[in-house]
Amino acid sequence: MTISFEGRVAIVTGAGGGLGRAYALELARRGAKVVVNDLGVARDGTGSSDAAQAVVAEIEAAGGTAIADGGSVTEYAQMEAMVARAKAAWGGVHILINNAGILRDKSFAKMSPEDFELVVRVHLIGSANCTKAVWETMREQGYGRILMTASSTGLYGNFGQANYGAAKLGLAGLAKTLALEGAKYNVRVNTIAPTAATRMTEDLFPAELLERFRPELVVPAALFLVSDEAPTNTILGAGAGVVQAAHITLTRGVALDEPTPEAVAAQFAAIVDRTGEIVPQSGTEQAMTIIQRLQGG
Ligand code: NAI
Repeated sequence: MTISFEGRVAIVTGAGGGLGRAYALELARRGAKVVVNDLGVARDGTGSSDAAQAVVAEIEAAGGTAIADGGSVTEYAQMEAMVARAKAAWGGVHILINNAGILRDKSFAKMSPEDFELVVRVHLIGSANCTKAVWETMREQGYGRILMTASSTGLYGNFGQANYGAAKLGLAGLAKTLALEGAKYNVRVNTIAPTAATRMTEDLFPAELLERFRPELVVPAALFLVSDEAPTNTILGAGAGVVQAAHITLTRGVALDEPTPEAVAAQFAAIVDRTGEIVPQSGTEQAMTIIQRLQGG
């Protein structure tokens, strides 16, 4: 099976460098017409450049088709305008990769409320803005593929990244509900948690691992998740050519004999016991498991 994006229109946010650039180049190489969005800011969100234009030039030099967009994902009107431009040029939008992001790392004790809010605004509100801007188009078309970018920090935590972790797990949560709401319209929504040596992680990787963690090795998982064959409601981890799946699991749990904190303490080991745990496909499904437990199931 060959995965082709011929005839597809894709938007990749934050595609002026790092992972977004790698996604945009490969989407275009496989036939997609690509909107390369990037504000061109430094790692902490300051400054500006024509990074998106440079990636468009690379795509065109390789024989592909792309346009640059310098809008900020934090501005809904700019994202609406970006989608309108793509539709005017190419007639639709089939793929959205929400990838733009910044960091303002500090321990929570030292983090200002402004740095917390800014990071949440760029990652979480920014992705919601872009998704909202394409949502109706995808529903009307009866086709859409949306990828959210989470992070191991969102899924599992990392020291100094409270703002970023909150935003990133928020994105996985956003994807879960949109996967349910989009299903009827063939709009599939997935999440990727990448690990790659980019400027965002340049302080983390020792020099000898930079090549092994090159962004191009995250591309296969990301492109599969926006292809015709994509699943929906999946969280994949990807880095250095290793692809993993992350699940938000639920233990069987315990129906308390009496509703007291002492009963929770006494049965805590049984509550957290992972034997027979499941992955509910919706919040409603979790509620059903509670009823099952009450009925002795
Ligand atoms: P990067 O810093 O190279 O790329 C982020 C891009 O987003 C930059 O080009 C920046 O100009 C752009 N951007 C920032 N604010 C924007 C805005 N308001 N509107 C439009 N564009 C904006 O970093 P990298 O590593 O390529 O990150 C891509 C995504 O992957 C981010 O969401 C990041 O949080 C996520 N990620 C990366 C990991 C890694 O190991 N590199 C780990 C986990 C998640």
